[in-house]
Amino acid sequence: MSGLFITMEGTDGSGKSTQLNLLSQYLEKKGFNIVFVREPGGTKIGEKIRDIILDINNKKMDYMTEAFLYASSRSQLVNEIIAPELKKGSIVICDRFVDSSIVYQGIARNIGIDVVKKINNIATGGLTPDITFFLDLSPQEAIKRKIQQKELDRLESEKDYFYKKVYDGYKLLISQNSERIKVIDATQSIENIHKNIVNYIESIFF
Ligand SMILES: Nc1ncnc2c1ncn2[C@@H]1O[C@H](COP(=O)(O)OP(=O)(O)OP(=O)(O)O)[C@@H](O)[C@H]1O
Ligand SMILES: [Mg+2]
Repeated sequence: MSGLFITMEGTDGSGKSTQLNLLSQYLEKKGFNIVFVREPGGTKIGEKIRDIILDINNKKMDYMTEAFLYASSRSQLVNEIIAPELKKGSIVICDRFVDSSIVYQGIARNIGIDVVKKINNIATGGLTPDITFFLDLSPQEAIKRKIQQKELDRLESEKDYFYKKVYDGYKLLISQNSERIKVIDATQSIENIHKNIVNYIESIFF
């Protein structure tokens, strides 16, 4: 039996972690074996790579270096956790995946969608999520939520126009992957968003 691979995407502060926590709890209560990982990171090696990527002092980081670091972390995550767990039949839930790299590095950083797809194809062996949720929240609203929460890290302190590029990048990606990516209105209450996500998963898979 092969498991189910679910990913969550959206701009910073759109509610991904909030929703994934709720979804994991819900599916666990239903008796499924759930593995919940985040990107970048999710493994011991990947968390070290995450620290390098998010370090506020690494202002000189080359965009291609950044893209390779994300892909390296992802390669470790796929090979150490995601692929073996899917093989065992687990539901693997991942906070961000290749789509984030396509949007942030490929489109917003402008190193090109094709380049990012290529290096990620090597990193993941072509593994694609069964379903991806996109939490649709305007960049302005997302930033407001983040500022209330904590200090901004290196990526989060980018300028506004970067967030607009990210948001527009997601819209482009969604238009090209409308079968896989389910758009959820993230301006709703936490509870309603959770219900939308659960209803969709149950209508498709269970
Ligand atoms: N539907 C919602 N309505 C209002 N506030 C929300 C909603 N969902 C999440 N929040 C709040 O917004 C903030 C960001 O949420 P969360 O950390 O889940 O977002 P995220 O997408 O995981 O962010 P990041 O990209 O930084 O990981 C938190 O303070 C959270 O409590
Ligand atoms: Mg989060």
